[in-house]
Amino acid sequence: MICVNQLFIYPIKSMQGIAVTQATVSQGGFEHDRILMISEPDGTFITARQFPQLLKIKTSVSDNQVHISLPTGESLCIDLDDFSSSQESTHVWGSNFTSHIASIKVNQFFSQYLHKDVQLRWLGRHLSRRTKRYPDVPVSFADGYPYLLLNEASFNYLQQQCPERLDIGQFRGNIIINGALPFAEDGWKTIKIGDVVFDIVKPCTRCVLTTINVNSTNYLANNEPLTTLGYFRSDDQGKIDFGMNMIARNSGTICIKDHIEVLERQNAKKYIQSFPKKTDNQQQTCIITFEGQSFNGNNQQTILEQLEQHQIPIPYSCRAGVCGRCQVILKQGEVTALTQAAIKSKNRILTCSCIPKSDIELNLLKK
Ligand code: FES
Repeated sequence: MICVNQLFIYPIKSMQGIAVTQATVSQGGFEHDRILMISEPDGTFITARQFPQLLKIKTSVSDNQVHISLPTGESLCIDLDDFSSSQESTHVWGSNFTSHIASIKVNQFFSQYLHKDVQLRWLGRHLSRRTKRYPDVPVSFADGYPYLLLNEASFNYLQQQCPERLDIGQFRGNIIINGALPFAEDGWKTIKIGDVVFDIVKPCTRCVLTTINVNSTNYLANNEPLTTLGYFRSDDQGKIDFGMNMIARNSGTICIKDHIEVLERQNAKKYIQSFPKKTDNQQQTCIITFEGQSFNGNNQQTILEQLEQHQIPIPYSCRAGVCGRCQVILKQGEVTALTQAAIKSKNRILTCSCIPKSDIELNLLKK
């Protein structure tokens, strides 16, 4: 039987989640889920993609208050009534809406922790943000959709393929199910959990956040698990999917052990299978030359990681072959592409999604 095995809420975007035994479903997400977020002073969202140390902050919620514990031992109690009454413009992944700003004391607390001028934002009692595809459906500070479903069997399959030890927490799901076959969720369109009906609206495209160890906040080696996911969950655009985004048709309460009923099915999205041959994977050294500066590299790590290890910073954002920011020119040599879209025309390559195959010479992309 397919059942709910774990439920999580994340009161503050990018901070630690709270495991709960039951959760209240509303259209915009679970009650208390991603109701707060760290932002730039202009309202642009900030996440653990830029500041992995956010993942170390523990949160708890009671009534109108959210409690924060930093890894340094400092703590803070935030009262939702203390946020500005004015509606301030706010931006998350290209969606523009409004939120309320915390007091100066709270903003200073987080600014000191991150060594950067930041604000804490609260959505308020009425969500002004809407999902992009469904303009009637509200959404919290989540990346795009109110709910994220993960299938433990899919995670276990990924773990079997991936050389790094993973934690399902890296995928920041809300509803984690068991009892289904790996990736059975790809073929579901509408499901019912308890009395709540959810529409599965799209697979969740993954980014660098999944490569951060949730306990140490260090990046896992070799851009894992994105590298392994790229072998079998990469589409023809180079997007790497894991988990399913959902919206709720009605409100209600769902609990651990609730049965999942599949009401409607759909054709599963097609992914490109490109597992490397075992012999491809023997460690070899090579010379990487970037803008005339050479160092010893290897055929195991992405070019982006190797450049960073040699203090050669280049722009990046997603580290997953999606945003295109890490493009360089491959002047000489060969690379292995980890996703379909990692090698582009005119000798351009995505350094986050290619590993060297031979000595390589790279140049910055001239704007
Ligand atoms: S960092 Fe986004 S494509 Fe490489």
